[in-house]
Amino acid sequence: MKVTVVGAGNVGATCADVIAQKDAASDLILLDIKEGLAEGKALDIFQSAPINRFNTRAVGVTNDYEATKGSDVVVITSGLPRKPGMSRDDLIEVNADIVKTVTENIIKYSPNTTIIVVSNPLDVMTYQAYASANLPRTKVIGMAGVLDTGRYRAFLSQELNVSPKDIQAILMGGHGDTMVPLPNYTTVCGIPVTQLLSKEKIDAIVERTKFGGGEIVKLMGTSAWYAPGSAAARMAEAITRNQRRVLPCCVKLEGEYGLKDVFVGVPVVLGKSGVEKIIELKLNDAEMELLNNSADAVKDMMDALDKMGKN
Ligand code: NAI
Ligand code: 2OP
Repeated sequence: MKVTVVGAGNVGATCADVIAQKDAASDLILLDIKEGLAEGKALDIFQSAPINRFNTRAVGVTNDYEATKGSDVVVITSGLPRKPGMSRDDLIEVNADIVKTVTENIIKYSPNTTIIVVSNPLDVMTYQAYASANLPRTKVIGMAGVLDTGRYRAFLSQELNVSPKDIQAILMGGHGDTMVPLPNYTTVCGIPVTQLLSKEKIDAIVERTKFGGGEIVKLMGTSAWYAPGSAAARMAEAITRNQRRVLPCCVKLEGEYGLKDVFVGVPVVLGKSGVEKIIELKLNDAEMELLNNSADAVKDMMDALDKMGKN
């Protein structure tokens, strides 16, 4: 299987490294516009192959889309990251141009690929990639929920003092402050988390999760990359290995959850064809209201993008 990662910055290089370490692709192309950056990072990753014991061939290129020809999966991480004081939405205009150009170039050489979008603002950039790719909605997927549930599960494991591996959770909605973590669908090895932690403790963790990206931006002056890169690699692996993983991903809804023509995070089955199925959970009225609010916030940003006339 061939995977291309566009953007060899913090998230893209991490994603490429994790894909290689998992041996989740036979061929891995890392592409950036900065001369030499992708070549250098891919060479470095390849030189770790004998040490970390993987077969993936990592090759870096500068804006050479011919090298990406026949990619089964393309991860788009190119774009500006947040700086302190910026919201993800502040990035919309500049990143929409980048995602549009990148998607059009990718599709020229890999017309049947599956695209995983990482660039922010995530839900709107997934919309942009979908508009530029002319692929079915099952093949243009945004990465946010895997990262956001990662944060939520990590915080829960810290509070409960148990292994993060034993926390299962789902989270819905957009990748922003309106995201909707779902304590009713959160378990510790099958035990409902609501039996193990008070409502106050869970609420505090939900709040910390919603602002988890901003917490890191404040600490480092730029946004996170280890968890985001790993999350995108996890999704790529689900596709290249046809794992049929149940993961929260951003997809275009066409009536599911009563929502139409909006890109938001929902639980899906991810396998060789991309989104194999969208899972419709039973949500109570309060959860449904939160999801609707989150979808409205995304829709506003999609409308803003439409008004810019980019897509
Ligand atoms: P970065 O600045 O480290 O890397 C971005 C790379 O994209 C740079 O190397 C740049 O040269 C490259 N690039 C820019 N325009 C390009 C083009 N037209 N073609 C190819 N490459 C191009 O940024 P970082 O930290 O890797 O973040 C990347 C994006 O991912 C940002 O938009 C950030 O907000 C987003 N992000 C999204 C997350 C999510 O949960 N969806 C989580 C973390 C970051
Ligand atoms: C994050 O959540 C900024 O979207 C990025 O870390």
